[in-house]
Amino acid sequence: MTDLQNRFQDIIAPVIQFDYQVEIVEGKGSWVTAADGRRYLDFACGIATTNMGHRPDSVVAAAQDQLNKLWHAGGSFLYEPIVTAAENIVEIAPDGIDKVLFMNSGAEAVEASVKLARKVSGRQGIVSFRGGFHGRTMGSVTYTTSKARYRQGYHPLLPSVFITPFPHPFRWGMSQEEANEYALKELEFKFKHEVTPGEIAAFLVEPLQGEGGYYPASHDFIHALRAIADEHGILMILDEVQTGFGRTGDWFTSQVYDVRPDILVMGKAIANGLPLSAVGASAQVFDAFPAGSHGTTFGGNPVSCAASAANVDALGSVIPGVDRLSEHAFSRWNDIKDRYPIVGDVRGLGLMIGIELVTEGNEPDIEAFSAIGQYAFDAGMFILNCSPDGNVIRFIPPLNVSGEDLDRGIDILEDAIAKYEG
Ligand SMILES: Cc1ncc(COP(=O)(O)O)c(C=O)c1O
Repeated sequence: MTDLQNRFQDIIAPVIQFDYQVEIVEGKGSWVTAADGRRYLDFACGIATTNMGHRPDSVVAAAQDQLNKLWHAGGSFLYEPIVTAAENIVEIAPDGIDKVLFMNSGAEAVEASVKLARKVSGRQGIVSFRGGFHGRTMGSVTYTTSKARYRQGYHPLLPSVFITPFPHPFRWGMSQEEANEYALKELEFKFKHEVTPGEIAAFLVEPLQGEGGYYPASHDFIHALRAIADEHGILMILDEVQTGFGRTGDWFTSQVYDVRPDILVMGKAIANGLPLSAVGASAQVFDAFPAGSHGTTFGGNPVSCAASAANVDALGSVIPGVDRLSEHAFSRWNDIKDRYPIVGDVRGLGLMIGIELVTEGNEPDIEAFSAIGQYAFDAGMFILNCSPDGNVIRFIPPLNVSGEDLDRGIDILEDAIAKYEG
């Protein structure tokens, strides 16, 4: 163990464990540099956060400029960056989102979205979807079912939260259509046996489940939910904390699927790594949230907002290129899938691609990722996994990755897979 690793272990609560123990001292674009000078291709992207790569020039400049002027307001007075950042978000957000509430983290924005939905509807029930991830606070972990471990030991969780299946066609051995039908039938049973739809304030759903295994909802499923929501006066909260800001090929997956959220939850890539999150909704929806009914000290921090505004400007010229990179990555991954039986499924949208590693019987291969991740690390690359069994590679390069680095990352992982398969 290095001196820093020892100091870390002695002083940081053990609940915080980093995926890689190597000390990183600098990041630029798709690459980070370790203390020993070694460089790594960073396809972990701070968990789908550094969509513009590390330290994009214009975002650094905006943050530095703001740092030199004013870095905290805490709700005491007006400052310009909060307005510009919100204007930029409304400009790119799905139709109907015309106001923004800034928070600090994804979980905090999820909490605010649920409080808002309860205020708007006057109802208490929340329906969330099995495999979903919405954060770690008591409320957000109640809606989270990507891994039982996240909830273990924290019960009782919040009441009036109803979990229903989200289509996982590959794991269920079904086609997307069959999985959609099954999930919708279960929702129907939920409304028949457990709670009436008139008691539900909101559906809280990721349009592409992230932590749960990189399962896209599919156009048909998300539109079916929208129709059920409309029929029963239920609000649709789309949690786009991980899928937002170009990750799936458009600004938001709502736009990829052409589905309207009543409340949009944003985080992660909103400021490319400076702490910021947001809730978007119509002015009418926000009318139910009068001054004083919710609040924050750090939310909408001037430096984070200045970075976010510059980040959205910068992403504007990068997102049109995501489809081309995505097509290339999917084509290479599908080719790898055809050649290596351990790759059971390749799925996702844009540059949010899940590669599911399986045993001969198509069961999750729970050993595979640690071997492949270690091989990738030795070859100079960071990569993360997801799904309850940890057997899905998250392939989430920066959106402005060069074609050469994209191929380099896939080459490393293909070698790792070949080596693991023997
Ligand atoms: C979809 C989704 N929602 C919410 C969260 C929670 O965000 P945070 O970790 O910033 O609280 C995450 C984090 O991974 C996420 O992926």
